[in-house]
Amino acid sequence: MKSRIISTGYYLPQKVLTNSDLEQMVDTTDKWIKQRTGIYERRIAEQDEASSDMGSRAAEMALKRGNIDPKEVDAVICATITPDHFFPSTAALIQKDLGLSNAFALDVSAACSGFVYALALADSLIKSGGASTIVVVATEKMSTITDWTDRSTCILFGDGAGAAILRPTDENRGILSSHMMADGNMGDLLIVPAGGSRIPASTESVKQKSHFIKMSGNEVFKVAVRKMIESSHIVMKEAGLATSDIRLLIPHQANLRIIDAISKRMRLEKDQVYVNLDRTGNTSAASIAISLADADEKKIIQKNDNIILASFGGGFTWAGMALKW
Ligand code: UT7
Repeated sequence: MKSRIISTGYYLPQKVLTNSDLEQMVDTTDKWIKQRTGIYERRIAEQDEASSDMGSRAAEMALKRGNIDPKEVDAVICATITPDHFFPSTAALIQKDLGLSNAFALDVSAACSGFVYALALADSLIKSGGASTIVVVATEKMSTITDWTDRSTCILFGDGAGAAILRPTDENRGILSSHMMADGNMGDLLIVPAGGSRIPASTESVKQKSHFIKMSGNEVFKVAVRKMIESSHIVMKEAGLATSDIRLLIPHQANLRIIDAISKRMRLEKDQVYVNLDRTGNTSAASIAISLADADEKKIIQKNDNIILASFGGGFTWAGMALKW
């Protein structure tokens, strides 16, 4: 028995923040941002629109497309690093919003790897018989942890959400293999230092802007390329797939130069690699979820296509997954 994604959904906020808007906010240029990241614009959520609101919209679309009665859902797993609150979990808020009254709910915190981690956990739950209809959501309001005066990070991130519904299947398609890994030794290279039990919120922590993302971009870049390739190869080997078998690699949408480096080293053709970061920026955990739902909606992926997901993020965490669609 396998688990299979039976439907997907996504949500992007209306408001668009362009590179020229950013030129008015920090010392940067449209040219630099495009050349160094490949990003043209990103979406920004409204002030009263929290991560659970976006996650609910994405999950609602996936339920509708899958023709699933909310009462049939037995678990909600939400990947996010921008939860509405410390607790209750964002998954519990989505469970309430959508009337998923027979479901348990929990959040997964694995930064940009969150969606692939959550899918892998849902796959295990299904295989062990712990649940049979699972809503996996990834939602991020990155704009709330972005320092809008730091040009090295504020040009990168965007808000949005994606969702996928998993069910068991006896068909010879679905999740073929997955791989999750972490190295906490490099945690300080990509971090929101304050707001937790180590540095609780204080006048001082706010003054020092310690509630925003701090990133050593260059170092993250190098490890991200290496680990996304490594994860992809591990899941391809386990699934018995060669490069030529891959219809689509959906890598975490962090930087076009990272994606290009991975594609080149994996010898993938341009049309085998999905890119949407030009319009969304880096939406952390939501990035692969939005991409998968978009590729599904646009019919870029069809029944029985082989797909590889590859993610990398704070922690450090990284993960890969091979699926037959
Ligand atoms: O989602 C989790 C994973 N995250 C990632 O994978 C992000 C990985 N890192 C990156 O994408 C890239 O490292 C960045 C896009 C963040 C930065 O690109 P870079 O090519 O590594 O640039 P850099 O940090 O080495 O900076 C090059 C120069 C510096 O100036 P000097 O010291 O050479 O004079 C920076 O001060 O570019 C300058 N710079 C900027 N200039 C204009 C940095 N940010 C900007 C900016 N506009 N926004």
